Formats: sequence, structure tokens, C-alpha cells
Amino acid sequence: MSSCVSKLQGKVAIVTGGASGIGAFTARHFASHGAHAVVIADVQDSKGKDVAASIGFDRCNYVHCDVSDEDQVKSLVNTTVEKYGQLDVMYSNAGITAASAQTVLEMDLSEYDRVMAVNARGMAACVKHAARVMVEKGVKGSIVCTASFVAKCGIEGMTDYTMSKHAVLGLVRSASVQLAERGVRVNCVSPGMVATPLVCQTFQIKEQKMQELMAEVYSGKNGPLTEKNLADAVVFLASDDSTFVTGHNLVVDGGLGTKAVAEIQKLTMHNNRH
Ligand SMILES: NC(=O)c1ccc[n+]([C@@H]2O[C@H](COP(=O)([O-])OP(=O)(O)OC[C@H]3O[C@@H](n4cnc5c(N)ncnc54)[C@H](O)[C@@H]3O)[C@@H](O)[C@H]2O)c1
Repeated sequence: MSSCVSKLQGKVAIVTGGASGIGAFTARHFASHGAHAVVIADVQDSKGKDVAASIGFDRCNYVHCDVSDEDQVKSLVNTTVEKYGQLDVMYSNAGITAASAQTVLEMDLSEYDRVMAVNARGMAACVKHAARVMVEKGVKGSIVCTASFVAKCGIEGMTDYTMSKHAVLGLVRSASVQLAERGVRVNCVSPGMVATPLVCQTFQIKEQKMQELMAEVYSGKNGPLTEKNLADAVVFLASDDSTFVTGHNLVVDGGLGTKAVAEIQKLTMHNNRH
């Protein structure tokens, strides 16, 4: 970790959904890239505190924040600025999937509301409040959102999740145009499939099995896709290496996002039949 080039030297960053998966890895990656402070925001308090402890409480803290509640997001941003003086990077990454398949013919609309509240509304609240303090403080900030490879296509199920990730693209594109002249950049990363708790839970496949499947699907020389591949992309967008990049959707799926989900859906159907 200490061998990293310090691309985020002195920067203050928030990572939502930082207690697990891509967010947890990226929070640690921010720290190893020299971030002055990393604030982990999540609803899984125990896991979030563990990630903060692993980075060190001298430059990392955990804040309970449900991103679907705008007041909590506003308070997260304000307390970060009060504690560290400014906000340079907002990585808005928290996301969920529905508990059911959500094909359009059988869509449970209460699940739809729950997914949209976190993935679309929560993302908008994070972009809004981060951008407001960046503009107010005159900081050339970087806001990075997590979309998904499904932000550019449709799949067999997960209609609400796919809609929510398309919404992230609309948010990023609008905000980037509106904030460009103020020096605030807004981009997103679109992961392919990584064997995180979210994916294992969605497809009800154990982590070990999911890892094996991912290795099979991403069988090229660079595979499988990992949290580090995502974190590297986020660090690029968060850092001054991408000073002139805004409104961009950086897809990190090795070209195999749709293939991965098709393979997993086949396996899920197989599991359900046995
Ligand atoms: N893993 C993948 O294959 C994949 C693919 C495409 C996109 N994504 C996206 O990547 C992001 C991170 O997901 P992950 O795969 O690391 O999953 P994960 O479940 O490991 O992490 C998601 C985190 O978000 C947190 N979270 C959920 N609801 C929240 C809320 N209301 N407020 C604050 N935090 C909340 C969870 O507690 C969890 O810690 C999500 O936006 C997800 O949609 C993941």
C-alpha cells in the first residue's frame, strides 16, 4: 500500500457505502494515495468503524448516514467541512438491489421505491450537498458516482436497479454541465460484476462460488474484475490527473459486464431448480 503514488495528497474525501465492497476498498485506496482525511458514510455501523480503524482514526472516521435521507447527507457534508476545513472529493457509491427479480411484468413497486430512494435520490442528495460546499468554499472539487454497466443496457431482470443506474448518468451529465464553470467536476464509474456482498446477496450465491464464477467469466489475461480495478478508476477521476474530465461515464467491465450477468442468471436458475 505504501508503494502507491500519492495522487490524492492532502485531499479530504467522503466515501458513501464505504463499509463494504467497492467503497471499503476505495476508502483504503484513497488513504494509501495520501488523502489527508477519509470519511466513511454508511448504515452498517460496525463494518464501517472496522474499515475506519483499519485506515487509522487519525485520518479516517465513520459517520452513520442513510443517503436516502437528505438531512443526514447535509449533516455528513457539513460535519466533514467543520472537522477538516473543506471537501475535495465526494465518492457517492452507496447502492442496493431489490429483494425480488423485478421483471417489468411482476415489478414490486414498494421495492422499486426503496431502490430508487438509495440509488437515485441518495445519489442526487450527495451530489447536491457536496457541490454546494465545494462552490461555497471555491474548491476545485471532484464528485464521482458509482453507476453500473447496466446504465448503458437492459438485462433480464432488475428493472428498477437498471432504471436507477440510468438515472445516475442523467444526474452526472446534468451536474457536470451546471458545475463546470465553478471548477467542480462530476463523473461516474460503471463497474462490471465484482463478487461483493451486494452481488452475492442479489443472486443468492456464496462468496466462494461467486469468486469462482467471476474467474470463469472474466477468464482473459486481466481477469477477474476486482475492487482494486474500480478503486484505481475512482482515484483517477478524483485526482488532478483528470482535471479536464467531467460528465464522463468510465466503464470498468473489461467488455464483459453483460456476459457476466447472463452466466450468473443461468446459474441462479439452475440453483433454483435443484
Ligand atoms: N459489485 C458489483 O458487481 C457492482 C456492479 C455494478 C455497480 N455496483 C455498484 O457499486 C456500488 C457499491 O456496491 P458493492 O458491490 O460494493 O456492494 P456492497 O453491498 O458491498 O456495498 C454497498 C454499501 O452501501 C451501503 N448502503 C446501502 N444502503 C445505504 C444507504 N441508504 N445509505 C448509506 N449506505 C448504504 C451498504 O451498507 C454497503 O456497505 C453500488 O452503488 C452498486 O450498485 C456494483
